[in-house]
Amino acid sequence: MSDLSTSYMGLSLKAPLIASASPMCDSIEGICKLEDHGIAAVVLPSLFEEQLDLESLTVDADLERGANAYAEALDYFPDLQTYNLGPDGCLDLIRTAKARVQIPVIASLNGVTTGGWLEYAKLMQEAGADGIELNTYSIATDPARTAAEIEQGYVDLVKAVKSQVTIPVAVKLSPFFSAPANLSRRLADAGADALVLFNRFYQPDFDIEEREVAAALTLSRPEELLMRLHWVAILFGHVGADLAVTGGVHAASDVVKCLMAGAKVACSTSALLENGPGHAERVLRDLDRWLDEHDFDSVREMVGSMSRDAVPNPSAYERGNYMKVLSSYVLRPDVLGR
Ligand SMILES: Cc1cc2nc3c(=O)[nH]c(=O)nc-3n(C[C@H](O)[C@H](O)[C@H](O)COP(=O)(O)O)c2cc1C
Repeated sequence: MSDLSTSYMGLSLKAPLIASASPMCDSIEGICKLEDHGIAAVVLPSLFEEQLDLESLTVDADLERGANAYAEALDYFPDLQTYNLGPDGCLDLIRTAKARVQIPVIASLNGVTTGGWLEYAKLMQEAGADGIELNTYSIATDPARTAAEIEQGYVDLVKAVKSQVTIPVAVKLSPFFSAPANLSRRLADAGADALVLFNRFYQPDFDIEEREVAAALTLSRPEELLMRLHWVAILFGHVGADLAVTGGVHAASDVVKCLMAGAKVACSTSALLENGPGHAERVLRDLDRWLDEHDFDSVREMVGSMSRDAVPNPSAYERGNYMKVLSSYVLRPDVLGR
């Protein structure tokens, strides 16, 4: 049996597999089952900035400003009242989970601006959370806002959350930045203890008959892992924060790849939602077997062994690879005649 233990954002974990935020972590039953099947930490579903703003609007809903803004917010975000357990329910879940499970419980905040909603970070810490994951999902739709302004906003946000708490803070990032390596380093310098790569974009499709934009949630596929591996391999050793992968982690071989790229942990949601919490146990058993077969005594030995700095051919991660891949394609002779 190999040593699967690791550390992540200052927390000691028994294995490098954690359950990222999803409805499976939204009940004490789900969290206990995940722990029973070997998951090393859970991230609770996010409390959203809009949800927390709405909460404070409800408090002053008797004021005209509050009443109008409340109605307007519900127009934009009709599901806010029913999504997850809500602010109080989330704090209760942290307390209950801390009383029932041994594994670290990481609470999640989801938003982009600095403001009163960030006080919830402190409340999450007081409720017993072992860490906070800050999800910065946003879409830069305003052509007047520059990349520099948007990135500075993220840096300020991380500083603001860090000023609220003493527990570690991870930042869950989106993949689309002009200079992800630079931004990652700035976020780490601003105090982020870990970076979680990457948010999945839930891109709406078009219903061309109804002429409607149709939102649909699809679970991830293993191919989505590749973009994450690429960036973790590039960042490893160049940012002062732990790295985690979310997106496309389905099998033990995916966990091995995440670790070799340079991640301390791999996070799983889709595979758990598809196959149930027992899937974690199978992944960990296969991971253990893989380590044994390949003469690794511990997962720690693997971390970063295939990062950009460690491989003999770093151009595989750079522009050179792009040209090589394109030129490797062989056009089938029969295609032109079709
Ligand atoms: C139904 C569902 C709910 C989710 N809720 C949250 C959430 O509240 N906060 C968050 O940061 N991510 C949330 N996610 C994203 C997951 O935590 C994870 O990052 C994403 O699904 C990619 O990992 P996967 O490929 O293992 O599914 C959710 C995903 C799903 C499928």
